[in-house]
Amino acid sequence: MTGAAGGLGRAISAQLMADGLHVVGLDINAPGLASMAADGFTGRVVDLTDASAIAEVFAQIAKDHGGLDALVNNAGTCFMSDFPNIPASELDRQMSINFSGAFHCCQAAIPLMEGRAGVRKIVNISSNGAYNFDVFDPPHYRASKAALDTLTKDLARRYARDKIAVNSIAPAMTETPLFKVLTEDVLARAIAAMPHGHAMQPSEIAAWVGFLISPAGDISSGNVIILNQGRDVR
Ligand SMILES: NC(=O)c1ccc[n+]([C@@H]2O[C@H](COP(=O)([O-])OP(=O)(O)OC[C@H]3O[C@@H](n4cnc5c(N)ncnc54)[C@H](O)[C@@H]3O)[C@@H](O)[C@H]2O)c1
Repeated sequence: MTGAAGGLGRAISAQLMADGLHVVGLDINAPGLASMAADGFTGRVVDLTDASAIAEVFAQIAKDHGGLDALVNNAGTCFMSDFPNIPASELDRQMSINFSGAFHCCQAAIPLMEGRAGVRKIVNISSNGAYNFDVFDPPHYRASKAALDTLTKDLARRYARDKIAVNSIAPAMTETPLFKVLTEDVLARAIAAMPHGHAMQPSEIAAWVGFLISPAGDISSGNVIILNQGRDVR
């Protein structure tokens, strides 16, 4: 599971541990991972913009655990420069954290899933912002998540007969430290647009990840599941 030390990452880790899985949490935030020490949790510090570091950490997972039943690509960020004034370095970093890191994790994880029992799972944490053009998200963030969802569909098709199910969960406003990238005004308007009058909680998104990874999720693959309290229904 990537981005384990973040708002959603902590909730997803807690959900999966409660469901009886051993969670290996990858994050660049070493103190954050250290604060999560628990039976059933192994933290590994890794910069997901570094493809060779990703390969190394999955090799270590293979040694320590003998394989992998599920991968959650959750690490991500939202850089807020707006078009056309987006520095090339910011575009590269946005794509690298939100898309390429997940791509490399899938490349490293799938061989560790082969030969394991049951339906193995990949869950990619996308964003409703890839599909709702009324909300604030800048284009490089939207594009990084749209690319991730295309990867979801490609891998779902490619590995269906190998029983590796790949889905995206695309949340709208969820109360995590990522909210700090927004100005107070943008945040207040975005929360006011949520039909229940409040943002979603990380535990609510984590429950859906847990569902997809549970046996109930075995028959879903290639889907982008949007969670937004019904905000965009017209
Ligand atoms: N919070 C929301 O409203 C919301 C909405 C839609 C989608 N999302 C998505 O949910 C996911 C989780 O975000 P969050 O809201 O928990 O934010 P967060 O900032 O709390 O967590 C993100 C985590 O990713 C880690 N990370 C960032 N860059 C990294 C790197 N280079 N290498 C390793 N780890 C790195 C951070 O250290 C952090 O722990 C992201 O993919 C985000 O795009 C969030």
